[in-house]
Amino acid sequence: PTIFAITPTFTRPVQKAELTRLSQTFLLVPNFHWIVIEDSEEKTPLVTNFLAESGLTYTHINAPTPTHYKLGKSDQVWKKPRGVEQRNAALRWIRNNLNESRNGVVYFADDDNTYSRHLFREMVKVKRVGVWPVGLVGGLMVEKPICDEATGKVTGFNAIWKPERPFPIDMAGFAINLQVILEKKEAYFAYDIQSGFQESEILKKVTFRDELEGLASGCTKVYVWHTRTQNPVLNTENIYKKKRGKASNTGIEV
Ligand code: UGA
Ligand code: MN
Repeated sequence: PTIFAITPTFTRPVQKAELTRLSQTFLLVPNFHWIVIEDSEEKTPLVTNFLAESGLTYTHINAPTPTHYKLGKSDQVWKKPRGVEQRNAALRWIRNNLNESRNGVVYFADDDNTYSRHLFREMVKVKRVGVWPVGLVGGLMVEKPICDEATGKVTGFNAIWKPERPFPIDMAGFAINLQVILEKKEAYFAYDIQSGFQESEILKKVTFRDELEGLASGCTKVYVWHTRTQNPVLNTENIYKKKRGKASNTGIEV
């Protein structure tokens, strides 16, 4: 199967570094199709050129988050959901451009996480909906489904953070077969739901807990980490601009 990885992304100092880290993992994955959706009014030259030179098969979309739902500078990150508009745009693209004859698996790959190439070797096994452990999320070293080693049946979850979530796992911890995405045409993400419930929002529309397929050796291996890149301190730029009359990155893309 082809892996369709959906990555929302937005302009910020670390964007190119994030996309570089991701793309160079994805280059190691056979049959990979990257769907990159910019949270912007227009496609940016940075992402456009980056993708053109990436060596990957890709689709480049832009879908701005409505201003009302955009995080303000002073908002805590958990106040508003991120990636909703972008993931929905990608789901629409998939439903408009792919059909049942395609063998595929759909994965939501945020641009700041860290992915092992071995994750994708597991993902290709997904028949309906597959799940696996995610490192460094939910306040734990690892948040994971509890699986029967032999059958992969999911018997529970180890989550402590909001364990009442219908599916207490991170976005990085599951993938959905393309046939299911095409069947359940109404499955989209939504804005006005509790923080931390985006994963459950889509999963409850496509599956049931007892249908989940536990992968990564019966959910005993970690192949993806919910890393979150710190914003770099760029306070010297102001001094630089005063002294040199331009930014350090004038005429050079970072
Ligand atoms: C957690 C989950 O891992 C996310 O998948 C989920 O969307 C998010 O919570 C949520 O509940 O909304 P977190 O690390 O806090 O993740 O989210 P980010 O990584 O900051 O954002 C998720 C994706 O949306 C990233 O690919 C990011 O580039 C993108 N994003 C973020 C935008 O496109 N626009 C923004 O303004 C912010
Ligand atoms: Mn993240």
